[in-house]
Amino acid sequence: MNLNFKHEWIETNVGVMLVLTMIVISIGGLVEIAPLFLVKSTVEKVDGVRPYTPLEARGRDIYVREGCYTCHSQMIRPFRDEALRYGHYSLAAESQYDHPFQWGSKRTGPDLARVGKKYSNEWHVAHLKDPSSMVPGSVMPRYPWLATTLLDTSDLVDRLKAQRAVGVPYSLTQAEYERNVKQFGEAIAKQLHIPNAKDNLVKQATEGNYDGDPSNVTEMDALVAYLQVLGTMVDFSKYDDDYFVKFR
Ligand code: HEC
Repeated sequence: MNLNFKHEWIETNVGVMLVLTMIVISIGGLVEIAPLFLVKSTVEKVDGVRPYTPLEARGRDIYVREGCYTCHSQMIRPFRDEALRYGHYSLAAESQYDHPFQWGSKRTGPDLARVGKKYSNEWHVAHLKDPSSMVPGSVMPRYPWLATTLLDTSDLVDRLKAQRAVGVPYSLTQAEYERNVKQFGEAIAKQLHIPNAKDNLVKQATEGNYDGDPSNVTEMDALVAYLQVLGTMVDFSKYDDDYFVKFR
């Protein structure tokens, strides 16, 4: 046998080939995996990102229930055309409290990651009731019942507790509340306090008047409140792009 370490020798000896292949794959694996144990976090440090208020959280539930994610993504990719159309590319930080995240992979409609504040509440209500009334030729389905269905808040506390169980910092105890005051400030910490969730939800819906009828809280109130906050938490004028690159 010719042992001159010709490639032919490796290729014609299945055992050697197997061992060498495994060595190469292990090195590749280590190069990919080892750094993840050395970095503390890949989530960018930015101000402003907070968990959803109870009303926004219920709006998100309705978004998931209605399957909006089957046509809409919520992730702006770091490409020029995406940034020109939708705004700054999405940060990991912006979906850190999203369980499950709504990145999606299908865009029959546009990406919604930064749709917040793009339109008025009235526009959203009219659009959700009948999309083609606002955008002629729209193929988006109608969701008229959202405006006439009262929002079910009977399981609100359990839903927030479930989010808390997977690490979203909603507070149950006084100590957790105080931790939130330090992290998010008092006004937001109050919104994240589970024992007050129901009152906070009704207050936000009444004051925000999302569906144009302050006398009751409908599913439309919740969904519009959710849509209006998407992508608005980070003030991108405070950071230049090099800052985010550091976290990759
Ligand atoms: C069958 C696919 C489909 C589904 C399901 C769907 N949409 Fe759409 N959506 C579209 C299309 C197409 C457009 C673009 C035309 C238009 O604006 O109506 C759109 C546009 C939008 C816009 C305007 C975005 C912009 O930047 O102009 C919003 C907001 C929106 N959809 C929200 C929702 C919500 C909330 C749901 C779930 C209740 C939903 N959509 C379900 C297809 C869909």
